[in-house]
Amino acid sequence: MIVAGVMSGTSADGINVALVEIVSGDGTGASLVPRQGRTRATAGAHPSTITLLAHAEFPFPTPVRQTILKTMNADSASVADLARLNFLLGELYAEAVVKTARKYRVKLDLVGCHGQTIYHQGEAARFLGHKIAATWQTGEGAVIAARLEVPVISDFRPADMAAGGKGAPLVPFFDYFVYRDDRVGRIAQNIGGIANLTAIPAGASLRDVIAFDTGPGNMVMDAVMQELCGRRFDRDGKIAASGRVLEPVISRLLRAEFFRRQPPKTAGREEFGREYVRRFLRMCGSAKKADMVATATALTTRSIADAVRRFVVRGRYQEMIVSGGGTKNSTLMTRLQDELAAMNLALRRSDEFGIPSGAKEAMAFAAMAYETWHGRASNVPSATGAEGPAILGKISYG
Ligand SMILES: Nc1ncnc2c1ncn2[C@@H]1O[C@H](COP(=O)(O)OP(=O)(O)O)[C@@H](O)[C@H]1O
Ligand SMILES: [Mg+2]
Repeated sequence: MIVAGVMSGTSADGINVALVEIVSGDGTGASLVPRQGRTRATAGAHPSTITLLAHAEFPFPTPVRQTILKTMNADSASVADLARLNFLLGELYAEAVVKTARKYRVKLDLVGCHGQTIYHQGEAARFLGHKIAATWQTGEGAVIAARLEVPVISDFRPADMAAGGKGAPLVPFFDYFVYRDDRVGRIAQNIGGIANLTAIPAGASLRDVIAFDTGPGNMVMDAVMQELCGRRFDRDGKIAASGRVLEPVISRLLRAEFFRRQPPKTAGREEFGREYVRRFLRMCGSAKKADMVATATALTTRSIADAVRRFVVRGRYQEMIVSGGGTKNSTLMTRLQDELAAMNLALRRSDEFGIPSGAKEAMAFAAMAYETWHGRASNVPSATGAEGPAILGKISYG
């Protein structure tokens, strides 16, 4: 089956499309990840495979990006604009998939589209007398299905939340499928707007998987760059490389409740968005710009290392496999490598496993769409905190 996965993350930088071919172990659409402890290595003579055929990235036009960022940060937004954004993003996602499929001459069977998160509150809180958790991914599946004339699975997170989970992270399902090894314990670390990890011990079954958001990925760095230098991000980490980390600021920031909280836990702009960055800048006072960028960069690497130290049993893992836009920042990568060396963890890139870092999450949603299409759950309850398996997403027929 040929499936397109579509992702646009909290950085709101653009749309990633991955076209994959999924071949199930026995040719009948068998599950990618057998639920009960058995793994693809032992599931049978013909393990399922996902092969990346093509991937492409489509930056959002600046006004679209600005509107998305404004909407995510807003305390109030126009209902009409939210409705329009939903349909507009549907068109943009469809266009991105059409362009990719045409360019690489691929005929699709199915699309899995994550959508754009405009609000995520994984923890239940009191609202009008009820305890409510809520999430909202926008980008109308019906529009994509109509344009592409194939079924589309969209809106993956609510089903996990309805089952008592936090609706995130969902990518651990894919991490488990591609990285699980009988002998090597691996930590998959994605550094997008937010950074999240999936720890897969050697010989793990699905329920042994630990996954949670470690804190900011590029989000704080990007906002600091925008504020101080008027640029979207610190290209290749050049500015951070020329600055010094403000240690007292880092120590204070790492004492925050989020970093200490036991997983499962998720973060978003609600935790590390505009307000957080304001506080960050205040704490830095009159320091040099480069020092502030270096400090924001160190916040990402230290919080990742800290999370491993605190919540992932050391000694059971040999490698960390990184992906996401943060891997393009060499200062970030060098600092992370130093942190990991101190824990005897080798740094590897998802690209070495046939998963280009920008395509990974899109591939993951293609895989989850495939499971949903076959009526199977693809949440990882140990990662989201759900009470049990949930079939993720809603289907629009093209
Ligand atoms: N050449 C680069 N140098 C440094 N950082 C980069 C570079 N390219 C991308 N990035 C960072 O990666 C981010 C996008 O990462 P991505 O994985 O797409 O995140 P998300 O999933 O949140 O959309 C950008 O906002 C930027 O911070
Ligand atoms: Mg992105």
